[in-house]
Amino acid sequence: DWTMKAFRDEAIARIRAQVGSGRVICGLSGGVDSAVAAVLIHEAIGDQLTCVFVDHGLLRAGEADWVVSLFRDSYNIPLVHVQAQDLFVGALEGVSDPEVKRKTIGKLFIDVFEAEAKKIGGAEFLAQGTLYPDVIESVSFTGGPSVTIKSHHNVGGLPERMNMKLVEPLRELFKDEVRALGRELGLPQAFVGRHPFPGPGLAIRVPGTITREKLDILRKADAIYLEEIRNAGLYDHIWQAFAVLLPVKTVGVMGDGRTYDHVCALRAVTSVDGMTADFYPFDMQFLGQVATRIINEVKGINRVTYDITSKPPGTIEWE
Ligand code: XMP
Repeated sequence: DWTMKAFRDEAIARIRAQVGSGRVICGLSGGVDSAVAAVLIHEAIGDQLTCVFVDHGLLRAGEADWVVSLFRDSYNIPLVHVQAQDLFVGALEGVSDPEVKRKTIGKLFIDVFEAEAKKIGGAEFLAQGTLYPDVIESVSFTGGPSVTIKSHHNVGGLPERMNMKLVEPLRELFKDEVRALGRELGLPQAFVGRHPFPGPGLAIRVPGTITREKLDILRKADAIYLEEIRNAGLYDHIWQAFAVLLPVKTVGVMGDGRTYDHVCALRAVTSVDGMTADFYPFDMQFLGQVATRIINEVKGINRVTYDITSKPPGTIEWE
């Protein structure tokens, strides 16, 4: 792709000019954006870059292994894997407001990055895979009054006291362009084609207060849903698909007993850039099959619903 080759060369020159001989820490989330940013920065400045992957206990099943194997084994880029589950989940105890969740998580990320920066003898730059839509959506709602819809932590949620300067080489790009750049940089298709995953992770897919138990229930339901989507050959037709664990319990009947368990909502949307989206029109048989598996296999869920809201008026995530 000619355009992406030109972008790549320009971006590399810009990163070198900004960073000089300084050291950079790049936070990896497991998603495409931060991975592409990291590989690009690594091309620009090599070992001046250290990648940090923070396991905040809010990841999907199997997520951490993916990232660690891709970066350490395939790319040979230095990667620090920080186990911070107790720190994050502990700090979120009792927190139910979506924006407070984001701010709490954003602040802890910075604490962890600053601590890691110290350990490598000081890094003055923090790199992130911020995209153009992240910038816009954190600033104002398109065409409307200037009001924050969600403070995406990799933009608006950063604490002001942060000591590091930001390196954001993807700030002008949309998602499809980042994927093209990823291919240009030789990232495997299976990685480049991954659905987006938000920085605050499962914390914003458990509306209301989170607990370890709820996170575990959600992880299981989510894994079944994604497995069924992959098996049906639908993964690449969907922008993003995930399960949400609702803070609502309903009555059910299983075998000859009464149940009183959580509702799980399934979400799947198509989109070009995440700024608008349509719900994905699964056939009913597919949805029925997923619901049956989740209810049979996941203790704690006895009812499944499918979200048919598009964006606008809904957002993609529930919080
Ligand atoms: P919404 O829910 O705003 O989502 O329609 C649009 C896209 O942004 C992702 N998203 C986030 N990503 N931090 C992130 O890094 C966040 O706080 C955040 N909130 C939403 C969402 O998954 C979707 O791809």
